[in-house]
Amino acid sequence: MKTKIFIACDTTNPKKLNNIIKNTKTNSLKIGYKFGLEFFYSPKGRIFISKLKKKEIFLDLKLNDIPNTCAAAINAIKDLKNINYITVHISGGQEMLKAIKKASKLINKKIKILGVTVLTSLSNKSIKKVGHTRSIKDLVIKQATLAKSIKLDGIVCSGHEAKYIKKICKNMEIFTPGIRLPGEGKGDQNRVMSPKKSIKNGATSLVIGRSITSGNIKKNIQKLILSMK
Ligand code: C5P
Repeated sequence: MKTKIFIACDTTNPKKLNNIIKNTKTNSLKIGYKFGLEFFYSPKGRIFISKLKKKEIFLDLKLNDIPNTCAAAINAIKDLKNINYITVHISGGQEMLKAIKKASKLINKKIKILGVTVLTSLSNKSIKKVGHTRSIKDLVIKQATLAKSIKLDGIVCSGHEAKYIKKICKNMEIFTPGIRLPGEGKGDQNRVMSPKKSIKNGATSLVIGRSITSGNIKKNIQKLILSMK
């Protein structure tokens, strides 16, 4: 299976977004688009997304609230018929995950639910500060096991954990953000990895933002293609 690339469209500007879509077109990669909180919350975001056709769309809502509120939030986007993936924080708990799954099946059977484990911006030091006593690796494994038991469709984790998760979540998709092209710095991310290594570790989709969307997008896509060889 060809690894999919989801471009993180982190902007509030529809013009910039059109430019991202135009310049990321290539026959060498299977490209989809990820819309997170920044674009979805922006004045024109929702309507822009609703009009996108023939594209794989990943709505990165990272839901995390009580079950009733999350189910209602899913119901509130039932007019968006073109969504392929939605994210939820696994840390929201079993009942919330079940409620989201049930609500999503009611509005659109094709929507896949991805469980977000520990954000790629976090380190072992930072999760200790919010009260976790396990290591990131153990926490991600624990959360992915819960997501599997609820039959979520996929897991979001860093490339570092993907190699463990692929053994546990055998038939599930694995999305890895925190991707950096060779030679690039981490920025605000912590657990970063190159495209090639992430795929080797088990990623079925890569989520890539600024490495593609900053600067010359066409050149960045060529760099990505080269780095995956
Ligand atoms: O620009 P960069 O490639 O670092 O962007 C990564 C994207 O992936 C952002 O849109 C961010 O919200 C998202 N993401 C992440 N870590 C996760 C889940 C999603 O960085 N665990």
